[in-house]
Amino acid sequence: MVLSIRLWVLIIVCSQILVVFAARTDPNDLGVLKAIKSSWRKLPLNWRGSDPCGRKWEGVNCTNSRVTTLKLAGIGLKTKDIGDISSLSMLVYLDLSNNKGIKAVLPQSIQNLQNLTTLMLVGCSFRGRIPDSIGSLKSLVFLALNYNNFTGSIPPSIGNLSNLTWLDLTHNQLTGSIPVSNGTALGLDMLLNAKHFHLGNNQLSGPIQSRLFHANMTLKHFIINNNQLNGTIPSSIGLLPTLQTIRLDSNILTGTVPQNITNLKSVRQLHLSNNFLTGPIPNLAGMNNLTYVDMSNNSFDTSDIPPWFTISSLTTLLMDKTQISGVLPSNVFQFQLERLELSNNNLDGTLDIGNSYSSDLIVNLTYNSIVDFTQKSVYNLSLDLSNNPVCEGGARRRYCPSGNTKTPIGSPPIGLTPTGSPPIGLTPGSLPISVPPNNCPSVRCGSNKMLSIKCKCTNPYTGNIYFLSYTFSNLDNQTYYATLLETFITAFRVLQLPVESISFSSASINEFKYITYRLHIFPSDEDFFNRSSVSLIGNIINGQLDKPYYGPMIFLGDNYCCFPEDKSSNKWIIICATIGSFLIVLLALAMIYAIYQKRHATKEKQDSPFASWGLNNGSDAGAFPQLKGARWYSFEELKQCTNNFSEENIIGSGGYGKVYKGILNNGQLIAIKRARQGSLHGAQEFKTEIELLSRIHHKNVVALVGFCYEEGEQMLVYEYISNGTLKENLSGKTGIRLNWMWRLRVALDSAKGLTYLHELANPPIIHRDIKSNNILLDHHLNAKVADFGLSKLLGEEGKGYVSTQVKGTLGYMDPEYYTTQQLTEKSDVYSFGVVLLELLTARSPIRKGKYIVKEVSEVFDKSGDPNGLYNILDPCLGSPETLGGLTKFVNLAMSCVKASGAQRPNMGEVVREIESIIDLAALSMDSESSFAFSSQNTRKGDLYDPYSDTVTDVSSLSVPFETELRR
Ligand SMILES: *[C@@H]1O[C@H](CO)[C@@H](O)[C@H](O)[C@H]1NC(C)=O
Repeated sequence: MVLSIRLWVLIIVCSQILVVFAARTDPNDLGVLKAIKSSWRKLPLNWRGSDPCGRKWEGVNCTNSRVTTLKLAGIGLKTKDIGDISSLSMLVYLDLSNNKGIKAVLPQSIQNLQNLTTLMLVGCSFRGRIPDSIGSLKSLVFLALNYNNFTGSIPPSIGNLSNLTWLDLTHNQLTGSIPVSNGTALGLDMLLNAKHFHLGNNQLSGPIQSRLFHANMTLKHFIINNNQLNGTIPSSIGLLPTLQTIRLDSNILTGTVPQNITNLKSVRQLHLSNNFLTGPIPNLAGMNNLTYVDMSNNSFDTSDIPPWFTISSLTTLLMDKTQISGVLPSNVFQFQLERLELSNNNLDGTLDIGNSYSSDLIVNLTYNSIVDFTQKSVYNLSLDLSNNPVCEGGARRRYCPSGNTKTPIGSPPIGLTPTGSPPIGLTPGSLPISVPPNNCPSVRCGSNKMLSIKCKCTNPYTGNIYFLSYTFSNLDNQTYYATLLETFITAFRVLQLPVESISFSSASINEFKYITYRLHIFPSDEDFFNRSSVSLIGNIINGQLDKPYYGPMIFLGDNYCCFPEDKSSNKWIIICATIGSFLIVLLALAMIYAIYQKRHATKEKQDSPFASWGLNNGSDAGAFPQLKGARWYSFEELKQCTNNFSEENIIGSGGYGKVYKGILNNGQLIAIKRARQGSLHGAQEFKTEIELLSRIHHKNVVALVGFCYEEGEQMLVYEYISNGTLKENLSGKTGIRLNWMWRLRVALDSAKGLTYLHELANPPIIHRDIKSNNILLDHHLNAKVADFGLSKLLGEEGKGYVSTQVKGTLGYMDPEYYTTQQLTEKSDVYSFGVVLLELLTARSPIRKGKYIVKEVSEVFDKSGDPNGLYNILDPCLGSPETLGGLTKFVNLAMSCVKASGAQRPNMGEVVREIESIIDLAALSMDSESSFAFSSQNTRKGDLYDPYSDTVTDVSSLSVPFETELRR
């Protein structure tokens, strides 16, 4: 009876929904869209009929019959007049970015959009002045007019936009000064909520007024590079403790840098280069978040080496032509430093670079007076001492790449003019072009098509992405791109866009010192993207605020070649309507079922021992598991964050069930291991397992962050490790190629993780299933041991071994354990030895009926020298002579896989041995040859087949959208 009442309620509710669907669009809004339709070209083809809201015109979204969102980015729109768009009075969100064909003026009537929060017109061809009336858009939060042809001055009325957080006017032709309020006039200083002023690359002039800055502001980025601003830097800038990026470079600023700039403890990027600043070089001591400092080309007083050069967060220090003299101390060369430029100063004495620098460091000390260099033969960085006395005599040495030219010391070298020139010492575009990726067979794709990461010929959406500030200089370090790719991939996934993969290529730093990449975004379902996908992709990228390592970004998309001809016809509408009503009936049934299930589940929960954990009612705390740091998640929560455990979120599977990737509400990525029905543990067993796992905390062991026990579900929630398994990485699936040094580090990390489990965890744990699939690599390529699904506590039976059913993976399993069924830590050592051999050969342990342990030992025993291993070594590693410590490494692996456990080393010994191998490898790297990521080992176009998979170079960062996309 109750049920049938529910059913009636449902039917009534559903018919209400139908009424809303059927509602016609507000006639006023319909009129506006129709007018737009008649005067703009290249609008989406499904803009027809007279119900934009009901019929879902592409790019249009409505709320209650009113148009609230217009997202029409990157679809090739053309118009000279944006028409009556201002009459869409309920419009909240407008994005017309990346339509070069919009050559319109922004009309005064824009003020009618009183509900507008977001106005994105990036990369169009808007011309004329920014209308004063823009100051009436009281709701505006995000205003991006960058990369257009706006002229005239910045309207002071923008000061009225009290909700504005983002103001981007970069790269227009704006003139006049930066408006500041006074009594009657308005100005940007009134924007108390603004975090971003991006005004670079215009023709702004006049002084930066002192009143522009005051203590009530919350500004993070103040970017006004490449203008013609003059006068001094006002000391009021020291009143903004929230500032993170200051870009004043390439203006005509004069005077002394105010010393209270050191109040700004949050500043990471400080660009003052190419001005006419005088007085002492500012003392930045205490600004301990600085990563990027550029003060080159100013007229500072002569000074000694400033002590703050050793601030330990600095990656980049550019002080060319700043009148510095003296002997450069070796503690300036710190490990995190990536680029150091001090050309055209008066450095003298003997250069000592110490030994704690990174091999990626690029140092330019040209045009100084350095007479000698301590590490003449042993150093491992890119160093240029040309045009110093130490390079006199014409001998061509590595640190004198261009010898001594005739230019007298002290005069500016060519290419360092005050209007931003390409930086010296950086090879622009050293990131190899990855499209077509060199791992694909050489297929010729049709017109406009390119090979995707998965070697499919499709039509990518392409464009350039620019970053106005950044914390680094090493364009080849993949850590920096990896986080960004992850961000995009996650965002695309959330909106379920059909993106197969993204590739970054052609890294360079442009004339305005913006980092630029070429972006290719490949479609997944079809060979092409439709309009809404292209529009949303651009919208997402341009809507990103600053990300780790990168400041604000600007995406300028190319015109997309290949929109499909959408053919819509009445036939489809009828079919859709039929399916629609069918779905509504289904929905009703599903809701009834859900209600039934929920009651059922509640009942079940009360019956289970977990009901007494006190999660719901707070009682009976004694039975609550003893957890350290792990928390409880509801089924609903995990369901939501995995998109209803969708296929797309699956990142792995095994006998126990599947592993899903999820994203929590706070943005944290997680991996959820969900037990299959049928492989559920008993409640007590599950509780023991999570208690055990929650106690394990080590940087080389994947951490448990929580669990779920509900509705017949058992799930373990782990931190998400972004770079996949060691096996995938050795096979090249992830686009990362590990060189010798990285492989040694992976070996060391995982050995440390295992040592922790064996020797420090309490009680000790035997992993039982060490294999390359259970070693994961994070963003920084740190290795972490994962998956204790089979782990057993040691000492449970007090004996040092555990006798139990034999489990493990073929190829890694200790033969002694297999025959005796007695499990000790030495079984893990055996499996670890197999992993070491895998690192050496990039082969599966068992391949074509051959067993890796047997193969390597035969070769090694026969010749006894590492060259005999040539046929077995992973060809990516290069020739055996260049691999420092190779013989020791093979010996170590062989001792781990000794037949008798007693003869194998324990994990602590293994760690020490690997450490000494790393020392040997580092020594051999000093002798001229290889650097951390050795791209010279890559033979382009070579097809090579370790796990019958293909390989890309680590620096061609093309990360597949989803490694295991299944449909
Ligand atoms: C890459 O950058 C990260 C973050 O700054 C750093 O930790 C790492 O050591 C760098 N890697 C290399 C190979 O320089």
